[in-house]
Amino acid sequence: MATPALSLRHVSAFAADVRESLTKAGQRELPSKYLYDEVGSALFETICVLPEYGLTRADARLLEKHGEEIVSRLPSPVQVAELGSGSGKKTRWILEALSQRQKTYYYPIEISPFALAACEKELGHIDMVSIVGYEQPYLEGLRTVAEGRAEEDHLLVLFLGSTIGNFDRDAGETFLREMREILQPGDALLLGTDLEKDVELQMLAYDDPAGVTAAFNLNLLARINRELGADFDLRCFRHEALWNFAERRIEMHLRSTRRQTVHVPAASLRVMLDEDETIWTESSHKYQAEEVPEMAARTGFRCEGQWIDAEWPFAQNLLIAE
Ligand code: AVJ
Repeated sequence: MATPALSLRHVSAFAADVRESLTKAGQRELPSKYLYDEVGSALFETICVLPEYGLTRADARLLEKHGEEIVSRLPSPVQVAELGSGSGKKTRWILEALSQRQKTYYYPIEISPFALAACEKELGHIDMVSIVGYEQPYLEGLRTVAEGRAEEDHLLVLFLGSTIGNFDRDAGETFLREMREILQPGDALLLGTDLEKDVELQMLAYDDPAGVTAAFNLNLLARINRELGADFDLRCFRHEALWNFAERRIEMHLRSTRRQTVHVPAASLRVMLDEDETIWTESSHKYQAEEVPEMAARTGFRCEGQWIDAEWPFAQNLLIAE
């Protein structure tokens, strides 16, 4: 696969985001969406096959087992847009079920050109399915797809893998509401949500003994070194996962193991970190099954169906725009 060139626009947006999040008063942060460069996307694919990380397998199992029933509850004809398709592997179950009844357009929307290329390779050859990818932020891409649709077409939006968990709860609802504004009544949203489970199990999923998640987290600093010329010394940071009881979320942090100064030339930035100070890189909110239909009702959807995995508490929720 050819390496997509880094655009100037990407570099300056990345630099601005790094600058803003690292210099915020209080807890330093980095936006989790930057975890997925080529290395990060490959590490995430590895996380998905770790025995400790049951989330992706549960997501895929539900789609395999209930894909036909889910599709049978959709309006017709329907075209499919997916937010953050990743490699696209589990989407096959939905596309194959749909292709039994209609010719289908599939629009993966991804800011990672690497994930988009992988997805086009994975799903580009299904009978009766045409794929058109958009390298755009989620809502921008969804707007493009919605504006281009034919009068009679409905939309099915896939937002799988509990990616919604990266948003704070309020921001997640705002996002659902913004999505709803782009959709028409009767359009569908298939939303994957990881459910609250035993804390030990949940922690292991984000701090696996082989250290793949640690590498995934640390790679964010390596990416800033590569793309913004920074001088983070990865040996002076440690991966940490914690369960925030009050917010019901896993947080990933990078803990500075000593007092140190880091330079990020492309962001004209110098950061002084104390020993034991952390940079917060990701949140993964967990949900109660009943919480999702309530969220749906507050954001202009109704929950038409919910399927929960028996092995790893995870729910697929079929929401219909009211
Ligand atoms: C892809 C955002 C759903 O939060 O579980 C995996 C990313 N982070 N291990 C998640 C992730 C650490 C994942 N999501």
